[in-house]
Amino acid sequence: MTTKPPVEDFATDWDHTDPQWVNNPYPIWEELRERCPIAHTHRYGGGWFPTTHEMVSAVANDTVHFTSRQVVVTNNKFPEFAPPAPMGGAPPITSDPPFHQIARRIMLPALAPGPVNALEPQIRELCVQHLDEIAGREFVDAGSEYAQFISPGVISRMLGFPPEDEDRFRDFVHLVLDLVDLPAEERAPLFAPMADYFSRQIDDHLANPRDDFTSYLLGVEVGGSKLAPEHVRGTMVLMLVAGIDTTWSAIGAAIWHLATHPKDLERLVNEPAIMPLAVEEFLRFYAPVTMARMVKEDFEFFGCPMKKDDWLLLGFPAANRDPVAFDDADRFIIDRAVNRHAAFGLGIHRCAGSNLARLELRVAVEEFIKRFTKFELAAGGDVTWAQGQVRGPRQIPLHVLAS
Ligand code: HEM
Repeated sequence: MTTKPPVEDFATDWDHTDPQWVNNPYPIWEELRERCPIAHTHRYGGGWFPTTHEMVSAVANDTVHFTSRQVVVTNNKFPEFAPPAPMGGAPPITSDPPFHQIARRIMLPALAPGPVNALEPQIRELCVQHLDEIAGREFVDAGSEYAQFISPGVISRMLGFPPEDEDRFRDFVHLVLDLVDLPAEERAPLFAPMADYFSRQIDDHLANPRDDFTSYLLGVEVGGSKLAPEHVRGTMVLMLVAGIDTTWSAIGAAIWHLATHPKDLERLVNEPAIMPLAVEEFLRFYAPVTMARMVKEDFEFFGCPMKKDDWLLLGFPAANRDPVAFDDADRFIIDRAVNRHAAFGLGIHRCAGSNLARLELRVAVEEFIKRFTKFELAAGGDVTWAQGQVRGPRQIPLHVLAS
């Protein structure tokens, strides 16, 4: 366990794992946007946090000054287990051009609207199955008894991993995305079970190829050659990590919102036609994903003296609350008509799984409010939020008022 000083001034010492940020980052970002608007920290070896949509977009679209070599801020800027740029440890998210485009194109067919939409009945069945288990109860935890099961169920099937290994997947995600403030020497050995697990899955798929994304990656050829083993493994890890925590967080945040805003819940129950707009507003307002970049060489960005290998925490969620980019940015408007949010990122790394994410979020919320038509947070229950770069509620204790 680490003990670290609490943050006193986020402008000069930000820490995205500080409890204040974890529990409610929005007032912090708002204040920074007005004061700085690029915050700095010496923690994690030094880094920056821009808070306006303009700056976030400028970074996301600038692959000359920023590299994606590492997209998760930790105490280790140069982990020995991660392949260097331009591939990085989890292509394409850790890849830079021109390799990035090759790695991204490999993933796109599996995540295109056609194959993704075909998953809808399966996703709905998964939701219904978990809802059946909590049906008829007055108190349920929508985080630990519902939201956390949907995306692992979908992704494990896509990758062809045993669905009963779900607990492990959540452990892997917790390690990669939550335990980021551990000292480097404590964190590195924790990756061994994850590496073993992926090796076993790869061996099994090589011995018994089947119709899933893992076998596809093992067989795919680029320019007449199969992918390098570290490429296959890195993309599998990315699918698992990017596919689980993100959507789990989005589903949880949407249900938390409905539990705390009864008028929005009532409207969504009575007017299902607004669901597509509601999904976009859930994504904008509670955007779960913040990614990182590293500075390639010393240069000045909006007047800030950035140094080679500084972190740059890319706050898509902060950009989504920027009043310059959105009317009434700090108001949740369930049927917001114009909503060009940045929840799925901006620039060349824009989320490749957005079709699947939107589908899972819509179906999971639809089925939840079909089953529970009126609910609120349970009195005295503790809502807890994940720490790190993917933010969403983990425990959402609810009092069911009507089902
Ligand atoms: C609500 C759920 C999701 C959100 C908010 C989200 C958000 C994001 C964001 C912000 C990025 C850009 C990262 C960057 O610029 O460094 C990204 C990239 C990516 N996401 Fe998602 N994501 C979600 C779900 C998913 C799912 C379900 C999958 C796949 C199963 C997925 C796969 C990817 C991949 C492969 C990339 C990398 C794309 C590239 O580098 O070209 N995501 N996501």
